[in-house]
Amino acid sequence: MKSIIKTESLTKVYNGKVLAVNHVNLEVEEGEIFGFLGPNGAGKTTTIKMLATLLKPTDGEALVAGFDVLKESNEVRKRIGIVFQDPALDSELTGRENLDFHARLYGLARSQRKKRISEVLELVDLVDKADTLVKNYSGGMRRRLEIARGLMHYPKVLFLDEPTLGLDPQTRRAIWDYIRKLNVEEEVTIFLTTHYMEEADYLCERVAIIDHGEILVTDKPSKLKRSIGRDLISICCLNSPRFLSALKEAEWIESLKIHNETITLGVRESEGKLPLLIGLALKNNVKIKSIDIRKPTLEDVFLYYTGRRIREEEVKGIDQFKVSRRFRRR
Ligand SMILES: Nc1ncnc2c1ncn2[C@@H]1O[C@H](COP(=O)(O)OP(=O)(O)OP(=O)(O)O)[C@@H](O)[C@H]1O
Ligand SMILES: [Mg+2]
Repeated sequence: MKSIIKTESLTKVYNGKVLAVNHVNLEVEEGEIFGFLGPNGAGKTTTIKMLATLLKPTDGEALVAGFDVLKESNEVRKRIGIVFQDPALDSELTGRENLDFHARLYGLARSQRKKRISEVLELVDLVDKADTLVKNYSGGMRRRLEIARGLMHYPKVLFLDEPTLGLDPQTRRAIWDYIRKLNVEEEVTIFLTTHYMEEADYLCERVAIIDHGEILVTDKPSKLKRSIGRDLISICCLNSPRFLSALKEAEWIESLKIHNETITLGVRESEGKLPLLIGLALKNNVKIKSIDIRKPTLEDVFLYYTGRRIREEEVKGIDQFKVSRRFRRR
């Protein structure tokens, strides 16, 4: 497969002091839906802005659709569409007028504009609302119109910065389906940022987890989940150093993570492990409040690599360590 985005050591320092993106190396393949997953302030928007030539990197290089974002920014711009994190539509215009305005900016001829507007409206199911003023659109309809606008000039890469932020779960699902559809029907590569784990899991062929401007890991969601154990067992109990030592010694535990009162164990196969676990707890006088067995989610992967949950602003007194026997962090 050919790469359509490639960065080398891409770095952004704001005002000489805020290191927002720290030597990021990325490679996105043509045709894939690639997710950039990270909490608030991780550096997602800054990265997208550099790739979309809206912000100059402080250091490093990036190629988008074969062109250098610094030296060939006009060539890059012709080949990309972008949907910003903050809404950027003219609400006093209709949907069609918004699209037409954008198409003119890109120099599409009149006949071409008409055809393309119909196509993109069809793609996001807004044909019926085309002549309604945008101020009367719902949040989901606005998002769909923005996506349609990003597609007007037949981009090879579409950047979507938090495409479903603030939308209700049902509308988010619908947007996911539109994103998938346009990826297939328009053959457009999608680079999206999100801090919704389930969004990245559902949509993306590969994800990169970014935190504090650094990429922690990049892979397929299924592989990332497998890398922390086939099954996870979370035990809620009061911490006991002896119990923890016993768990660390246990051969059948592949990873171990402590987060507040919860100990999460990665195991190859959870079946038959509960009696072993309860045996260890009894032996060490540990009172178990609850036990939960589940398949790993991307939220677990994030917790594993960063030591905190994605929605936590700040975790104080976090006590954590890892046991990695068969599975090692890359
Ligand atoms: N124009 C700016 N000037 C100075 N610092 C900035 C600027 N824009 C962003 N930052 C800082 O850079 C870091 C990364 O910000 P960025 O907007 O890229 O994060 P993000 O991952 O998109 O976050 P969010 O999920 O909130 O959108 C943050 O610390 C932010 O405060
Ligand atoms: Mg952002």
